[in-house]
Amino acid sequence: MADANPFQDPLRFERRVPPCAIVIFGANGDLTKRKLLPALYRLAYERRIPQNFAMVGNSRTPMSDEDFRQKMKESVQKFIENSPFDESVWESFEQTLYYVAGDLKDTRCYQAIQKKLAEAEQQNQTGDNVLYYLSTQPSYYEIVIEQLGKHTMNRGKGWRRIVIEKPFGHDLASAHKLNQQTHEVFPEEDVYRIDHYLGKETVQNILAFRFGNGIFEPLWNRRYVNNVQITAAESIGVEGRGAYYQEAGALRDMIQNHLLQVMATVTMEPPTVFDATNVRDERAKLLRAIRVMKPEQVPLYAVAGQYGPAKIGGQQVPGFRQEEGVDPESQTDTYAAGTFFVDNWRWAGVPFYIRSGKRLPKRVTDIAIQFNAPPLAMFQQETRMGPRAPRPNLLVLRIQPEEGISLRFLSKSPGSGMRVRPVSMDFNYGSSFGERSPSAYETLLVDVMTGDPTLYTRQDMVEASWKVVQPILDVWQNQKFNFPNYDAGTWGPRESDEMLARQGHVWRTP
Ligand SMILES: NC(=O)c1ccc[n+]([C@@H]2O[C@H](COP(=O)([O-])OP(=O)(O)OC[C@H]3O[C@@H](n4cnc5c(N)ncnc54)[C@H](OP(=O)(O)O)[C@@H]3O)[C@@H](O)[C@H]2O)c1
Repeated sequence: MADANPFQDPLRFERRVPPCAIVIFGANGDLTKRKLLPALYRLAYERRIPQNFAMVGNSRTPMSDEDFRQKMKESVQKFIENSPFDESVWESFEQTLYYVAGDLKDTRCYQAIQKKLAEAEQQNQTGDNVLYYLSTQPSYYEIVIEQLGKHTMNRGKGWRRIVIEKPFGHDLASAHKLNQQTHEVFPEEDVYRIDHYLGKETVQNILAFRFGNGIFEPLWNRRYVNNVQITAAESIGVEGRGAYYQEAGALRDMIQNHLLQVMATVTMEPPTVFDATNVRDERAKLLRAIRVMKPEQVPLYAVAGQYGPAKIGGQQVPGFRQEEGVDPESQTDTYAAGTFFVDNWRWAGVPFYIRSGKRLPKRVTDIAIQFNAPPLAMFQQETRMGPRAPRPNLLVLRIQPEEGISLRFLSKSPGSGMRVRPVSMDFNYGSSFGERSPSAYETLLVDVMTGDPTLYTRQDMVEASWKVVQPILDVWQNQKFNFPNYDAGTWGPRESDEMLARQGHVWRTP
């Protein structure tokens, strides 16, 4: 239980990481280099991980501990964000890094890891607490979990926990199967499914904004909210990851996990207590309340897109089908949008529009809550095209890149007459606090090491969100799309605008 853990502070203030060792599978991979090691180094720099710490990396490439340390040093220097690289901190931190070369399909690999772990534990007094981090291709998840069980690496005097990277399953059936296989080796309370969006400061701030203030929550319902738009746009294409992306697509890669979790954070009921069980119960309840589309509703409420070649800023960029490793006839969605409804008393009838895509005009993730217009339009809004009905109030929660919150409202324009104009009140995360925010991976690594699963997804949450997207996947799988249907550098296919127009709405331009 969350409260019984002395290392876990329910309000997440002062969390002391206990002595422990981390085994990272896929230690030669992109995620380890770009995110995990910079996060661990940063935690060491801030003394947020204890002296009694060790990390054992595994992948196939032969390397000595020394080679591995050098490689990790280069990665940290390259990828560490907004903070200095301190040679003296690194010198002591690198002594805690170890490496085992081996193939995950080979049982000898696990014996070698056990041996190295024992050495690392003995040298660093890590107290027999072990965290396994699956940062490998998803096709290895099952095999690693099974082998950890076979080698009794899932048990010991201290705790054993496992972090599983995204994607968790490829569809509802495979997610369910992976849950079952995982539970044969690790009980649910030791399983940490990572969704790094939930670790972002600004996503956590949604909870503070909603439940720490008295003025917003009374408006947070169907009586006052007209519609909600959640956008996660990337301006880049697949950047050499075409082969991986081709198997995933935007619906699986972004909406099934990150954006449905964000939607749940925006719409869930207040938990009675801010602890892991209560917060996750409310998120799960909300995900279960999202209406599951019938197959015949999919063409009306979901849109798939794929970018074609175009000139952006005078430069020719390839279409998805021309990217390396991508099938020239690929039917993969690089853009996905959906209209979702939450069937509960708070949100009945309010459309939630979610879209995500690659090669859109800019990189931005935000949530726009549009409120109802006043019952009587007393004033007219000034525009360049002449007077028109005023734009309704809009609250925008900006997740990236400029984290903050802004509220749009109407103000009288200077001069004679009661013409009004929209203005906005802005809160900017960076300038208001003036201090560096921890990266999502720093937050989530501390969480798992302290045994706090609040920001990790639970079995029921993962399966509930797969249930929401499964009918869309099923219909799309049997459909032949006329791709490409949007040019790189534009806001997605025309069908997406038409989807909103059917409800009397338009996508806003972030
Ligand atoms: N990259 C990201 O930004 C990102 C973001 C979110 C989630 N994820 C998830 O994180 C996981 C890792 O992603 P990644 O981008 O780091 O993948 P990656 O670059 O392909 O890294 C995986 C590493 O695993 C090692 N490996 C491959 N086959 C192996 C085997 N049979 N035995 C032992 N080691 C093996 C490889 O190193 P060797 O060649 O040396 O064996 C490879 O470098 C994936 O599940 C991904 O979906 C990644």
